Amino acid sequence: MVSISNILLAASIAAGVQAKSWQLHHYASEAVNGCSLLIGKQATWATKHDLLGFCKKDDQPALGSMAWCLENQPKPEEAKHAFIKQCDEEYGLKVTMEDLQHAYQNATDYLVENPKKTIPGWNPKKPASVPVKFTDEEYDTAYLSAIYRFMNVNWLMWFGIALFGYWFAIMFVAGAYNALFYIAPGFTKRLQNPIINTWRKYVTLPALFNQQHVNPAVRMRWFCWLVPTRWEAVMMGGYLTLVIIFNACLFHKLDGNIYFSTSAMFVAKQVANRSGLSTIYIIPQLILFAGRNNFMQWVTGWSYSRFIYLHKWLARVAVILVLTHAIAYTVKSGGFNGDKYIEYLTEDFFRWGIAALTCGSIMCFQALYFMRHMNYEFFLLLHILLAVFFIVGGWIHTADQGYEQWFIAATAVWCFDRAIRLGRLAFFGIRKANVQLVGEDTLRVTVTRPKWWTPFPGCHAFIHFVRPTVFWQSHPFTVVGDAAEADGSGTITLYLKVKGGVTHGLCKYLSKCPGKSAKVPVAIEGPYGTRLPLDRYDTLVFITGGHGIPGLYSQAREIISRAGSKTRVKFYWTIRNYQAIEWFYPELQKFNNDQIETIVYVSQPREVNSPIVLDEDSSMEKKSCNEETIDHVETLKLRLDHFVFREGRPDIDELVATEAAESLGSIAFTTCGAGTLVDASRRAVANNFEKCSYRVDYYEQAQIW
Ligand SMILES: Cc1cc2nc3c(=O)[nH]c(=O)nc-3n(C[C@H](O)[C@H](O)[C@H](O)COP(=O)(O)OP(=O)(O)OC[C@H]3O[C@@H](n4cnc5c(N)ncnc54)[C@H](O)[C@@H]3O)c2cc1C
Ligand SMILES: *[C@@H]1O[C@H](CO)[C@@H](O)[C@H](O)[C@H]1NC(C)=O
Repeated sequence: MVSISNILLAASIAAGVQAKSWQLHHYASEAVNGCSLLIGKQATWATKHDLLGFCKKDDQPALGSMAWCLENQPKPEEAKHAFIKQCDEEYGLKVTMEDLQHAYQNATDYLVENPKKTIPGWNPKKPASVPVKFTDEEYDTAYLSAIYRFMNVNWLMWFGIALFGYWFAIMFVAGAYNALFYIAPGFTKRLQNPIINTWRKYVTLPALFNQQHVNPAVRMRWFCWLVPTRWEAVMMGGYLTLVIIFNACLFHKLDGNIYFSTSAMFVAKQVANRSGLSTIYIIPQLILFAGRNNFMQWVTGWSYSRFIYLHKWLARVAVILVLTHAIAYTVKSGGFNGDKYIEYLTEDFFRWGIAALTCGSIMCFQALYFMRHMNYEFFLLLHILLAVFFIVGGWIHTADQGYEQWFIAATAVWCFDRAIRLGRLAFFGIRKANVQLVGEDTLRVTVTRPKWWTPFPGCHAFIHFVRPTVFWQSHPFTVVGDAAEADGSGTITLYLKVKGGVTHGLCKYLSKCPGKSAKVPVAIEGPYGTRLPLDRYDTLVFITGGHGIPGLYSQAREIISRAGSKTRVKFYWTIRNYQAIEWFYPELQKFNNDQIETIVYVSQPREVNSPIVLDEDSSMEKKSCNEETIDHVETLKLRLDHFVFREGRPDIDELVATEAAESLGSIAFTTCGAGTLVDASRRAVANNFEKCSYRVDYYEQAQIW
């Protein structure tokens, strides 16, 4: 799959490279362009940007005027060669150096200077019968006008490539570093010295402000957003700096320029070109990073939520650049009442440009955290719809200039992702899952899987419940795999915490069913995520809370069930009350092994108001007064006598510090669960990892986007 998408992207880039828009401008040929426009304004020997009239030997006034202009360029010989070449390549007209020399000599006797200015009644709409010349200053200005305008296009191409390459460069380095953890664990275990530690302590490990990352920041109840890790922010900061530099430097004012009536318009044109065209280099990556089947995820091992973070900022950058482009173009066209602007308004490319900008701007708001949080499905639907119009609008807007290649690339990447997603769903098929309401607020979904659909520890998958009202929604959940049958098939289990959307509907439905369970057809898209190199460490510490346990459980279980594995495993699980054990109890029984030490923190131990049901056929009596519950708790503790129960909340900082200090080898902390718990763990690892004399790594399995 990696190779298919790589080929796809390479092909789209190659297509972009071959597009007619992809051409470097050269000083010599731009000098010729400047001349043809300068002379072209005096009479009708040629139309704008058209050399045809000047390439004909018979038209001595035209060729003579051109020869004089070329002779007055900073590098006349190169300009003349460029002219000869262009006449030949574009019109098949042969002009030689001698022809130019002759026309130059002959023109000397007839030259008139800038006739439009100097000869009253001169009609520039008619062909001229005499050659024209200009002052040195006018020749210079024409040259500079062309150079400033078209060298800007060169610069922006390089800038675009730099922006495009920035992420791929970082990602390939990150990918190589990541790969070392799998292929050379002995080497990565030794990656610790004061320099590396300082870098990790202050850059790569902590959250941006050392507080939240998984837990959203909230101000005044309504303003909420997700805070990146510091390393994510540093990478994005570098990118934003480049974007700002690239869009702020190397612009040139030029009074009397040959293109526009004012210097401001001339600058506006450069700004518009720069901002507009740098956007198209962003679009393919913008789409790529939002996909579930983004091959850069496989290269880097980065989480989907990190790519979504990049996606968001690339999108913001793109919209700001398009806005800049629009404002600059409006200035260039003489404002909203300018003739040019009014003329543009009647044209499709312009209207589609406005549509794209409008959709892009709306998206920046509708995708804010609180909008997503309010109704995720509505956000997603609107987002996709607007994105389609953004891409189509941009495509039509740029097609005339030959810049549609980047939109083709973006569309290809998008379709590729969708095709893989559909393929994954189709291959899984629609299967009847056993859905049961277990405990107070958990849905257990168990379904048989195809043979080749092998879950790996910690992976997640997107589930569709094929019911009339919700079949189109796909929600991510962690997959717990069962031991495979002899023929390779098996079952997978997902544990869904009941929240407000599709899970809520199912919960209501199931509570009316006998045994609180039912067969529900589901389709599952996955598995997604990366397998962590956990078996390379001497000690593993898992820290999780509530419904964050399934992924870490699978990872821990895989390690302890491996023959000959010497890894020491510490498993910390915090739950609210003893009843919260119920839904995961059957799995927990499998944690019975000397290698693993499980510590369960119960933060509200007294909060028990109904008996604890451990298995469906449990003969434990169902009584519900408080005295009895103590017995239930005791029974529970007896049944799980390989667990340590502690009442109260864990002090994460102390826990991590102790584990780090006591470890006799390399150690990995893996976390998942509620945002506050995970963020506290990240903070604790960043603050304490130096207490361990071996390598300490931190893996965060909680994702939010
Ligand atoms: C990689 C990953 C693994 C997860 N594993 C588990 C798990 O094992 N067990 C578990 O209980 N929960 C898990 N979750 C959380 C789970 O996806 C959400 O709780 C679920 O989608 C909520 O569905 P709902 O319609 O009932 O919730 P709602 O009440 O509609 O939404 C609750 C919250 O979930 C978010 N959300 C809703 N739909 C989606 C979606 N399609 N994609 C992403 N976020 C969404 C919303 O932004 C909102 O903040 C996981 C999430 C991720 C990203
Ligand atoms: C010299 O130039 C004049 C005017 O441009 C033109 O009419 C004439 O034909 C040219 N003579 C030759 C020999 O090309």
